[in-house]
Amino acid sequence: MSDNVTIAISKGRIFTEALPLLAGLNIRPEQDPDVTRKLILTTNQPDVKLIVVRATDVPTYVEYGAADMGIAGKDVLMEYTGNGVYEPLDLQIARCKMVLAAPKNSKEINGRLRVATKYVITTRNYFADQGRQVEIIKLYGSMELAPVLGLADQIVDLMDTGNTLRANGLVPIATIAEISSRIIVNKASMKMKHELIKPMLKKLAAVVNKT
Ligand code: ATP
Ligand code: PRP
Repeated sequence: MSDNVTIAISKGRIFTEALPLLAGLNIRPEQDPDVTRKLILTTNQPDVKLIVVRATDVPTYVEYGAADMGIAGKDVLMEYTGNGVYEPLDLQIARCKMVLAAPKNSKEINGRLRVATKYVITTRNYFADQGRQVEIIKLYGSMELAPVLGLADQIVDLMDTGNTLRANGLVPIATIAEISSRIIVNKASMKMKHELIKPMLKKLAAVVNKT
C-alpha cells in the first residue's frame, strides 16, 4: 500500500478552502462531498484518495493510520489527547480565533466562574495558567446560548466575523488562540511513504506561501 496516500478531511469550510491548495498539487476530487453519499472520494490522481470524516475525528483517523494525512483545525488538535501525529504545515485556511466571551455589559463574576464550551481541555488549561479554578460545562454546539439562558457566565468558542457573538449579545473578552487548519501526518506513513508524502508537503508549503 506504500504507493497510495489517503487524506482525511471534513466537508464544509475546510474542504472548500482546501480545494485550491489541493489543486496547486494537481489533486482534484472527482466527487463533491455535498452531493455524493460516498465517504471515500477518488481524485484525478489514482494514488490519492480523500476520506470524508467529522472535523473532530480527523486526528483519530490519522493517528491510527486509517488515513495517512489529514487536514484539521488547530482548535481540534489542541483538544486531541491521542498519542501523536506529525503537524508539519500550517495551511493558513479556515482562520479564526478561539475566544472567551461574555454578555455585553456583564459585571465581574464573584465566586466560581461557569464557562460553557466544547473545548474543555483548552479552556481548563487556559484558566489553570491563570491560577483560576472554573466550572466548565461541556456543550457540543450553540455555545452562544449558554449565557443568554443562564447556563453559564461565559463561553469559549470560535470567532471569525464576530457576527454570531454579536447576534447573541456577547462580546469577546480575551483571545485564547489564533486558529487555522494544519496538515497532519501519521508517524508510520511519514516513514513508509516518504517518497510520496515529502514532495507533497514541500509543494503544499510553496502553494501556501504563494496564496
Ligand atoms: P464537527 O462536525 O466535528 O462538529 P464543526 O461543525 O466544528 O465540526 P466546521 O464548522 O466545518 O466543523 O469547522 C471546521 C473547522 O473550521 C473548525 O475546527 C475550525 O478550525 C474552523 N472554523 C470553525 N468556525 C470557523 C469560522 N467561523 N471561521 C473560520 N474558521 C472556522
Ligand atoms: C462557527 C463557530 C461560531 C461561528 C463564529 O460556527 O462555532 O459559532 O462560526 O463565526 P463568526 O464570528 O463569523 O460569526 P459555524 O458557523 O461553523 O457553525 P457550527 O457551530 O454549527 O459548526
